[in-house]
Amino acid sequence: MSILIIGANGGVGQFLVEQLKESGETFTAGVRKQEQVDAFKEKDIDATLIDVEADDLSTLTDKIKGYDKVIFSVGSGGKTGADKTFYVDLDGAIKTIKASEENNVQQYVMVSTYDSRREAFDASGDLKPYTIAKHYADEYLKQAKVPYTIVHPGGLLDEAGTGKIEIGQFFEGRGTIPREDVATVLKEVVTTEGFDNKEFQIISGEKEIPQALTNVK
Ligand SMILES: NC(=O)c1ccc[n+]([C@@H]2O[C@H](COP(=O)([O-])OP(=O)(O)OC[C@H]3O[C@@H](n4cnc5c(N)ncnc54)[C@H](OP(=O)(O)O)[C@@H]3O)[C@@H](O)[C@H]2O)c1
Repeated sequence: MSILIIGANGGVGQFLVEQLKESGETFTAGVRKQEQVDAFKEKDIDATLIDVEADDLSTLTDKIKGYDKVIFSVGSGGKTGADKTFYVDLDGAIKTIKASEENNVQQYVMVSTYDSRREAFDASGDLKPYTIAKHYADEYLKQAKVPYTIVHPGGLLDEAGTGKIEIGQFFEGRGTIPREDVATVLKEVVTTEGFDNKEFQIISGEKEIPQALTNVK
């Protein structure tokens, strides 16, 4: 099984690369700068250039060819305007979903926002364009001809992971979760069976990650 992580240089992506390497999985880190490719290759990690904004659909279809699983952990970031949000988080995501369909990818894993429901738009304040982008990317994925897993993490933290989470579907409250724990959840959903066409939220909690994930299988 071969896995492509798009957004592998990000906060979550870097933890995921380390964890997949440690478990001996076959994967490629998709990044958008040559120096990032070189840095991964120096650590004996396969890496390739992928820019979901600059690459057109046909280029992305070629780049995704041969992978069994694709993880989209990309984000235009909080400092860019709404235009970039739509180019990257919406159009970039949808291009990679179409390219995955074209290549008969076995699982597409989307790192979404905590609440991407339509009713979350107005409550999301400055993040409204981002929430809209994530909503329609998630909706597109759910109707695409590719098995999907959509993970909705709470507010991301840089502190060390605890290995313990809570899983739910559209909690009343909100929560946070270390990026390292999000990466562990992503590793579990791509390396174990049972997550096709599932969607769930994760925040820090009391249950060990593998045990918590049995509730969504
Ligand atoms: N912040 C939160 O509290 C929160 C909560 C829930 C969900 N999320 C979602 O979780 C995702 C992962 O979080 P994170 O902390 O890992 O984010 P991050 O550190 O900002 O990483 C995002 C990655 O996306 C890459 N990227 C940006 N534009 C791209 C493009 N056009 N093509 C390909 N890659 C591109 C960036 O590349 P460079 O390294 O080259 O800049 C970066 O590596 C976020 O993107 C967000 O959608 C965030």
